[in-house]
Amino acid sequence: MKTIVIYNSQTGFTKRYAQWIAQAAGADCFALSDAKKRNLSAYEAIVYGGWACGGSIHKLSWFKSHMDQWTGKKLIVFCVGASPMESPEIEPALKQNFSKEELQKVNVFYCPGGLNYEKMSGLSALMMKLFLKTIKAKKNKTEMERNMIQMLSASYDISNKKYTEPILQCLENKM
Ligand SMILES: Cc1cc2nc3c(=O)[nH]c(=O)nc-3n(C[C@H](O)[C@H](O)[C@H](O)COP(=O)(O)O)c2cc1C
Repeated sequence: MKTIVIYNSQTGFTKRYAQWIAQAAGADCFALSDAKKRNLSAYEAIVYGGWACGGSIHKLSWFKSHMDQWTGKKLIVFCVGASPMESPEIEPALKQNFSKEELQKVNVFYCPGGLNYEKMSGLSALMMKLFLKTIKAKKNKTEMERNMIQMLSASYDISNKKYTEPILQCLENKM
């Protein structure tokens, strides 16, 4: 299946997953800015990876605005975030990025990435700082919030190639 993997990555985690997927699937791999200049009509499968930003998938609007032109193609979106795979909020957060109709056309996956404060833009670092400050200011913190404070206080990497397996399986099954 002729496949293209397109990614939007700020600090490198989504790019890493895109490259893992492309390598395993024998697919072409481009950053979103380069993919926009290309003709995608020859591809049978289009995979888009974007990082999680406040519960949304970054630059997903580009992908969604083209979905109507991509009828008959296999469509996959993967989201890379700082939350571990087992976080209960992942599934509802992923789904709220799509309408019911869109969810029938696209296969959606999550891959845990991590945090890289060294590569983050100043604005992103500021937003993370404010987010942390808000949780820290809470009076009766839940266990999840206490864990979150500890986790978000420094850079970490929980990415793993194994999380690409469901995506690769989805690409192999012809739906
Ligand atoms: C402003 C901001 C908001 C974020 N929101 C979320 C989020 O809602 N859920 C999550 O799991 N990670 C969130 N993250 C963490 C990033 O998604 C995570 O660091 C991801 O691995 C970045 O991917 P990248 O290296 O491809 O840019 C956020 C990061 C920033 C800077």
